[in-house]
Amino acid sequence: MIKKLAILTSGGDAPGMNAAIRVCTRAGLFYGIDMYVVYDGFKGLIEGNIKQINKEFTSDIMNRGGTIIRSARLEEFKDPAVVEKAVRILKDFEIDGLIAIGGDGTYRGLAAMAKLGYPVVGMPGTIDNDVASTDETIGFATALNTICECVDRIKDTSGSHQRCSIIEVMGRHCGDLAIFSSLAEGAEACITFDHPAKEQELFRRLRKMKAQNKSHAIVIVSENLLDIQELAKKIEQQAGFATRTEVLGRLQRGGSPVAHDRILAARLGTEAIELFRRGEHGRVVGIHHNNVVSIDIFEALEMKRDIHSNLMKLVEMLQ
Ligand code: F6P
Repeated sequence: MIKKLAILTSGGDAPGMNAAIRVCTRAGLFYGIDMYVVYDGFKGLIEGNIKQINKEFTSDIMNRGGTIIRSARLEEFKDPAVVEKAVRILKDFEIDGLIAIGGDGTYRGLAAMAKLGYPVVGMPGTIDNDVASTDETIGFATALNTICECVDRIKDTSGSHQRCSIIEVMGRHCGDLAIFSSLAEGAEACITFDHPAKEQELFRRLRKMKAQNKSHAIVIVSENLLDIQELAKKIEQQAGFATRTEVLGRLQRGGSPVAHDRILAARLGTEAIELFRRGEHGRVVGIHHNNVVSIDIFEALEMKRDIHSNLMKLVEMLQ
């Protein structure tokens, strides 16, 4: 029987992580489980930065961005000795299981703990939407809305000056934020790792737009992919469109989570607690075809992400 559970958040913070902490805490307390939080992700775990919490700890946090228990990235967690230490510390606190909210790196940390037989459940929380075992991650919808708000504003000024704007969005090596925002904004081009730039085609289209006296053009590019200043120069030379660049950066990670992310957190967090109650751990929760599902953590880490070629086709068709 599960008596004590701990929650941590790890990797890049995402809007909705607080909602997830609230849900796990309240669902756990509802079933009479003592709930704990670990501050600063896996780093705090090996430092024993763990505290028992009550319901009030999670009051008024559902609408807050970031994570109140903070997050960290810990390279050392790849070292088996560090993982063993983490498990030892949780056992010293007599904590029966750990829920970690994060992305791929977080799942790898949990998998290492599961290998040692420690009960873990992973919840997908990252703006990147790069977790293959779920159709959507907590924070993605909010970040996408933030990007669209920013692009709408850029369009206002871009249109006033008849410019092309290249906008770099986050996603590490995953193009979802770029593809979904391109579709939502009717971008002239979307460039991601899986869908590289078709430069000549882009220049041709922009030349035509310029000839038709179109007021602005939007090009959305995934981060870590290409030098957007260089691309801007090429567009100016080849298409005659005055071009400016914008890097949205960590603006995309902040802000109050949209209702969709809060509801996602509620659905996934309650399932995480139910899994522990059923004695099913070493798993990750997710959404598949709008159903809440859970998958073995090792299988989850082997899964391949959808690269959304179908949506990319729509982006191109609607240009
Ligand atoms: O994983 C979320 C994310 O925002 C990525 O999109 C980005 O590449 C990375 O984190 C940036 O991380 P940091 O804020 O640690 O530099």
